[in-house]
Amino acid sequence: MSAPADGERPLQSPRVEELAKVLFTAGEIQARVRAIGDAVTADYRGREPVLISVLKGGAMFHADLLRAIDLPASVDFMSISSYGAASSGVVRIMKDLDEDIVGRDVILVEDIVDTGLTATYLLSALGAREPKSLEICALLDKSARRITPVPVKYRGFECPDVFVLGYGLDFEEVYRNLPYIIAVEDMDALAENPLALADLLEEEEPPVAGPEDRG
Ligand code: IMP
Repeated sequence: MSAPADGERPLQSPRVEELAKVLFTAGEIQARVRAIGDAVTADYRGREPVLISVLKGGAMFHADLLRAIDLPASVDFMSISSYGAASSGVVRIMKDLDEDIVGRDVILVEDIVDTGLTATYLLSALGAREPKSLEICALLDKSARRITPVPVKYRGFECPDVFVLGYGLDFEEVYRNLPYIIAVEDMDALAENPLALADLLEEEEPPVAGPEDRG
């Protein structure tokens, strides 16, 4: 961390390293993405799957995964927002798919499956459109928090029950562009100042986490 110049935001306190730890490095993420891409390529050989990205959090994973699949795959995007009570699982489609998925091999690409309520809603909404097949690919699986079972076919990492940021995942729209994933250790400090971890965005090397931080 470097000292801020006049007019820049001040360094945050407590220090970044005390607020968050790296959970999955950029290298580890890219290795998992390649492995999942290889598995999808093998499983869908001779077919043309459509990879659906759930905006915005899944967009980074979706883009990297697409490039790791050696098939004539196509893409589509949907955007959803939760409404109603926090964990009600009631979801509104803000942007629907551009293409019909009747008879298609669909892979729903998610950033994280947490309670499973969003994925359950999407499986039901997309399943009703009669795709030939429908599978879930999630970068992170926070299975300890599951309220409803979700059949995750392709999983990047099992995720401990902590709030995570980076590689698409945000807090108040910030931190999606971190190339690695961090676990927030002090949510109160981040809630008080959503830019408390912004120094990470300027650093070339992330703070290193020990295995004890990985849950
Ligand atoms: P679910 O419906 O509880 O499975 O939640 C899925 C959505 O919650 C994800 O697509 C994320 O947008 C969000 N989410 C859940 N856990 C986290 C987290 O640790 N960090 C950031 N977003 C999260």
